[in-house]
Parts: sequence; structure tokens; C-alpha cells
Amino acid sequence: MIQAYTCKSYDEISEIAAGLIAAELYWKPNAVLGLATGSSPVGLYERLIEKYRMGSLDFSHATSVNLDEYRGLDSEHPQSYRYFMQEKLFKHINIAPEKTHVPDGSERDADKACRDYDRLIESLGGIDIQLLGIGRNGHIGFNEPSDSFVKPTHCVSLSADTIEANQRFFSSREEVPTEAYTMGIGSIMSARRILVIASGRDKAMAVRGMLEGPVTPSLPASILQLHNNVVLIADREAMGL
Ligand code: GLP
Repeated sequence: MIQAYTCKSYDEISEIAAGLIAAELYWKPNAVLGLATGSSPVGLYERLIEKYRMGSLDFSHATSVNLDEYRGLDSEHPQSYRYFMQEKLFKHINIAPEKTHVPDGSERDADKACRDYDRLIESLGGIDIQLLGIGRNGHIGFNEPSDSFVKPTHCVSLSADTIEANQRFFSSREEVPTEAYTMGIGSIMSARRILVIASGRDKAMAVRGMLEGPVTPSLPASILQLHNNVVLIADREAMGL
């Protein structure tokens, strides 16, 4: 069951979503936060940084696990998701660096990278709150549309649509990695709470499929209908259909 809340603006999405992450930390200071990259969470991360600077939020006991990483990019690469997280959040707050986790894009052995990440999530006792953006094609993390839901962390070939959508961060399409490591549907669905944020007209089809369509791996976010604790915070454009 997905509780949907429609906002007037991206700023309002960011404010409300940051409030929900902050609330999780008030309830459970040592929470495991499942974090996401992309444009959608940038405003939310800015709000979390503000709350930390104002002294109203403490990350010192928290742990984070990110959803995904491009295969082949190391942590220093400016387009890697590790780098994104450092720049957009981690370096501005008091989370312990060793408690921040992103799949290791520089690990060439895909089986090892994925197995290690699942073991890590298991050793942390799972995820308390998982933040998700949504791809235009309904992907979550980098779980792309396919014939089946894949439960463990796995290596995916990125779809042409995702490569095109993410091209804006690279200087050319050729530079966009074609593969990624992503947390699987199993870890996402095992999170105790899930917070989805969506903004803009180009997410409207994916949001409609997530909320109202059949549960199908051809629109991976639709699986969220089977989770009992999901909140979607979206603007009118994303809710437009
Ligand atoms: C990427 C990420 C996803 C993200 C999605 C949407 O492909 N792997 O985790 O949710 O894109 O990104 P954006 O928020 O920039 O639209």
C-alpha cells in the first residue's frame, strides 16, 4: 500500500522528505539509512545539511547504504555515486565515513562486489528507511525493466533510456557507463520504511504505473505496492497522470 502525498513544488517535496528522514533519526539515532542519488534527492540533502548545521540533527550514530554505483567508476570519479554522496551530503554532516557504504564500482569481479554488498546489508540488520527516486522507465536503484524481479544485489546492463537520461551528467553519451551494481529488489522490499520522491512531468508515466498498474518487473517500482509502509512525496507534474 503506497500513501501518496502531492506537493506544490520541488522545494516542498524536499522539505517534507527531509522531515521524514530526520524523524527516523529522532526515533532511532543509529538508524540504517538507505540513500539514493540523482537529481531528486539533492534538495532533501540540502535540508538535512541545514538541520545538522542548526544543531537539530545528529548523524553520529547513523549508518548509510546507497542503492547503486556505476560499474567501472572508482570513488574519485566525479560522476561516481560515491563522489556524489560525498559532495552532496557526507562531507557536510557528522556521519562517520566508515559507516557510509556505496557498492564498490571499482571492483571488477561483479559476483564479489554484489555478494559483499548483500553481506554488509545483512550484517547491519537491514535498512530502516530506504529513500528512492524513480527512473522515467520505472526503475528503482538501477533495477531496470526486465522479465523478472532480481532479489540480491546484482550487476545490470543499463537501458538505452537510462543512459540517455543520465547522459546530462557526462560530457558525452559514450562516457556514460553501460553497467552498474544495484541493490536488488529483495533488500529494497525488506526495508522497514520506504520513501519515494518524484518530481516533474517526465516521471508521470512511471508514477502512474507504480501506483495503479499491475505489479510487473517491466515497471520495477510497481513492486512497491506490495510493501506495507511506503510513502510517495511527489509534485503535481509527477502525479499528473
Ligand atoms: C538514476 C539512479 C536512480 C534514480 C534515477 C532517477 O538512474 N540510479 O537511483 O532514482 O536515476 O534520477 P533523477 O532523480 O535524476 O531523475
